[in-house]
Amino acid sequence: MDKTVYIGLLGAGTVGSGVIEVLNKNASEIEARVGAPVKIKKVLVRDAKKVRDGLDKATVTDSFDDILNDKDISIVVEVMGGMNPAKDYMLRAFNAGKCVVTANKDVIAACGKELFDAAKKNSADLHFEASVGGGIPIITPLKQSLTANKITEIMGIVNGTTNYMLTKMTEVGADYDAVLKEAQEKGYAEANPSADVDGLDAARKAAILASLAFNTRISLDDVAVEGITKITPEDIAFARELGYVIKLLAVGKDIPSKGIDVRVHPVLLPASHPLSAVNGVFNAIFVRGNAIGEAMFYGPGAGSLPTASAVVADIIDTARDILYGAVGRIGCTCYNEKPLCPVEETESSYYVRLLVKDEPGALGNIATAFGKNGVSLKSVVQTTKAVKHKAEIVVITHLVKHKNILGTMELLNTLPVVDTIKNVIRVENEEC
Ligand code: NAP
Ligand code: HSE
Repeated sequence: MDKTVYIGLLGAGTVGSGVIEVLNKNASEIEARVGAPVKIKKVLVRDAKKVRDGLDKATVTDSFDDILNDKDISIVVEVMGGMNPAKDYMLRAFNAGKCVVTANKDVIAACGKELFDAAKKNSADLHFEASVGGGIPIITPLKQSLTANKITEIMGIVNGTTNYMLTKMTEVGADYDAVLKEAQEKGYAEANPSADVDGLDAARKAAILASLAFNTRISLDDVAVEGITKITPEDIAFARELGYVIKLLAVGKDIPSKGIDVRVHPVLLPASHPLSAVNGVFNAIFVRGNAIGEAMFYGPGAGSLPTASAVVADIIDTARDILYGAVGRIGCTCYNEKPLCPVEETESSYYVRLLVKDEPGALGNIATAFGKNGVSLKSVVQTTKAVKHKAEIVVITHLVKHKNILGTMELLNTLPVVDTIKNVIRVENEEC
């Protein structure tokens, strides 16, 4: 009996071509590991006439129905990207009794429940390892290897483009516009870089990670998001002086009696924190669990072969489940309905950089504004600016609610002594 597991591949772009390459070059190992050959039977693309290296022309189609109606195909691998038709194709694949592997963070973050419900209804597998962290194993660790733990915190650098930009700004003191241009020239940032620099790509990944870590459904809309567009070389230099580096982090915390706190924003991270050493386009995810303690997963967050490594691992997992009659074995793990902690109630330390009039009593007035809002100061640094009669003040606060910082900024904005609030950035430190 032919036990070959056949795949319908949706997309033959960066990731799809990597999947084809890995399945071809590691075919014998994969067959040995699965117990049967794993082969691509059809490949869906937009432009079926385009010549593509490494792709058998006979397998190429521009009609999803060719894959849907092919009874031999048991796994649909979606690496097209975007919301629709990708989501529609995945739902139709489940309804046709096929399993699905996807790298699509957009669909998982926005419609994860709908997909899992369809997978369950049809007793099918749904795997999405490549949707966060590219080649880094993090979804399977959260769903399986760390499942003995109660996870209290997950924190990650999950966007390579912005990490590359912040690393360059830190290493060579370049400004935001210059590093964005360089990231675009290297092909990391898109011509429209918004999804990366405004934090939306990271927010989708944060929603997926928090759903898995805390076993409760978190959608993109639940994530408080801030990008890196306001970070300046001055902030990076002050951070360094104070012993921190600036990173764009996806943060998820399960706060007892408050709920789930999920956000994406730049933070000042102590230079000694393991995530501070993650540079360039690399990604890393730091997990705190009540059995393992601290663990960190590090590696390439994107790219053809690294991402294909995660997609093909999911294909192998699915093929094993099919051959052992165990499809649908690990379904949705969101069995809780935990409340969200409103962003105003979340707690952090803060870095506040102000340009103020250099006159007697200025510092006193500013300290009073923080005090009136219940914000306790940890350190204050003052430098005289090149700007005439102005001084620059950098304040680091103790742990404080976000609403108290918002109140402080509102009050500072009314003080004649304050010229400009230059930046307000959260600080991740020992107190948090
Ligand atoms: P890509 O290079 O743009 O490739 C997309 C492929 O899908 C192309 O082959 C395209 O066909 C096909 N396609 C798109 N829309 C289609 C439609 N409506 N009908 C038929 N075919 C269609 O994208 P990618 O970078 O490989 O990304 C794919 C997915 O992986 C996305 O969800 C992305 O977020 C995720 N991902 C990517 C990376 C990465 O490093 N690139 C890392 C992690 C996750 P044509 O070739 O004919 O245009
Ligand atoms: N645009 C993403 C990044 C890669 O820069 O990390 C795909 O998830």
